[in-house]
Amino acid sequence: MLINNNLSGRTQPKTSTRIKNSTKPSFIQGEPTFYHCPRCGQFLVTINNNGGETQLRCCDETLSALTPQNTDDALAEDHLPQMTISGGFESNTLTVNIGTTPHPMTDDHRLLWIYVYTFQGGQFKFLRPGDLPEATFALAENDAYVYCDRPVCKGSRCKFNCKRGFTAYSWCNQHGLWKHSF
Ligand SMILES: [Fe+2]
Repeated sequence: MLINNNLSGRTQPKTSTRIKNSTKPSFIQGEPTFYHCPRCGQFLVTINNNGGETQLRCCDETLSALTPQNTDDALAEDHLPQMTISGGFESNTLTVNIGTTPHPMTDDHRLLWIYVYTFQGGQFKFLRPGDLPEATFALAENDAYVYCDRPVCKGSRCKFNCKRGFTAYSWCNQHGLWKHSF
């Protein structure tokens, strides 16, 4: 179907971004590596280093790559990201909530950011004290298609709302880096 939906008068093909893959697409780049300077609070992120560690320095100290906290830890319940796909007919937004009970968002104890790693790249959202411990990410281009490997999605009752394959990271100012893949 062709639809004229812009002011320039050009006709563009209308394509749906409902799930079209049942096999996991490849990631263009490896997962990022996060670094944090405990002195000044700066974050550094490296990409395209195949998960390896890079010698980075800040405030006269060599930084170590951050390792996500252990998901078996007693604190995991309050820190692990959970994902909800939403965004209307095409389901092209992804909301990440932190904690099965909402993580605190006070000045002293809060999340500073949530990062979502996708097939094409990644996105940061930054949070302020008093915000909800969650962020919503728009999915576009190939990230909007993604894939689903659930058998129900091959049947006639599929609602096309379970896009999978993303990884979320979050940073708690007291309890460090947390990660969960969906
Ligand atoms: Fe925390």
